[in-house]
Amino acid sequence: MTARVHDRIRAVLWHQNRVRLLDQRRLPDTIDYLDLARCDEVAQAITDMVVRGAPAIGIAAAYGVVLAARTCAASDWRRAIEPDMERLAAARPTAVNLHWAIARMRAVIDRLNRDAARADSTMPDPAMSDLGHELLAEARRIHEEDIAANYRMGELGAALLDGNSVLTHCNTGSLATGGYGTALGVIRNGFHAGRIAKVYADETRPWLQGARLTAWELVQDGIPVTLLCDAAAASLLRQGDVGWVIVGADRVAANGDVANKIGTYNLAINARHHGVKFMVVAPTSTIDLATASGDDIDIEYRDAGEMLSSRALSEHGVAVWNPVFDITPAELIDALVTERGVLHRPDRAKLAALLRLRQKNGAITAPL
Ligand code: MRU
Repeated sequence: MTARVHDRIRAVLWHQNRVRLLDQRRLPDTIDYLDLARCDEVAQAITDMVVRGAPAIGIAAAYGVVLAARTCAASDWRRAIEPDMERLAAARPTAVNLHWAIARMRAVIDRLNRDAARADSTMPDPAMSDLGHELLAEARRIHEEDIAANYRMGELGAALLDGNSVLTHCNTGSLATGGYGTALGVIRNGFHAGRIAKVYADETRPWLQGARLTAWELVQDGIPVTLLCDAAAASLLRQGDVGWVIVGADRVAANGDVANKIGTYNLAINARHHGVKFMVVAPTSTIDLATASGDDIDIEYRDAGEMLSSRALSEHGVAVWNPVFDITPAELIDALVTERGVLHRPDRAKLAALLRLRQKNGAITAPL
């Protein structure tokens, strides 16, 4: 796939039969890639945030399943691959893309199993011989489809912009996806089209995805960025030059509630208060109709060490509350941009229609 303008960074690669990850813990000071040969190493890298961002961890997990298949014994692969997939799925709880990608890989395994069951039992196991090849092809499709979705969302989202400035949160770019990005894809496209006056990025405490990743990524791709601390967002929106707040999502529930990086909810309230529009950009792989509302989303809590700048604080018994995602209620969202189209004021009925599913008594039942 041909890269677009302002589109040079790739954080997840399949390289010489290994998963190559740009180590995001070390950015922006050090550019270092890790080459992983085993599935458990990929699961650990997801937990440790070597790779992060909802679509990127789904893609890394898909390649992790390929490694699992390649390293398990031919005689035993059906049993042996399952714990590896479970380990990947448990690596982080909130982003549904992880489960979505593993489900796609499992569907390939199930198909090969069915083919094997139908085959003549005196022949070598056709499923095993095809397994690595078919799984790699599926992982590559997941990766390429994600980039294509980001390009499309970039076009659809940028068309909504009004020439004012934009504010973004966390990192939603090439580092968080297969490439180009969700909210940052809209910003890339909008900047190139001259539809954005200025890009503001929250530093995004406590892990500083905005300061360390978004600022670095935009500078690499030639897009000027102005950084602010999260607490300055209300004052910025009050100034009146920001037209849209643009964020990504880790999970969109069936009613349109959105789980995203902690601080997103504050921004949505602030945006509504100041008459600024609020856009969520997420591919359909982030929509989870099996989760009824934001209340049902598992929010990840991370280590106190992410917040305690000094060891002395923990030695003095300071407790830490560190939820790393929050829920933005659907009613605060002006536009949900997906690769299948834009939902203005998303709700349960609009999401079901987007995915072409039937609604009965508020519950989603079957394909149309
Ligand atoms: O904890 P992280 O860095 O994995 O959180 C990432 C985010 O919250 C992003 O905003 C989200 O994944 C959407 S970006 C594609």
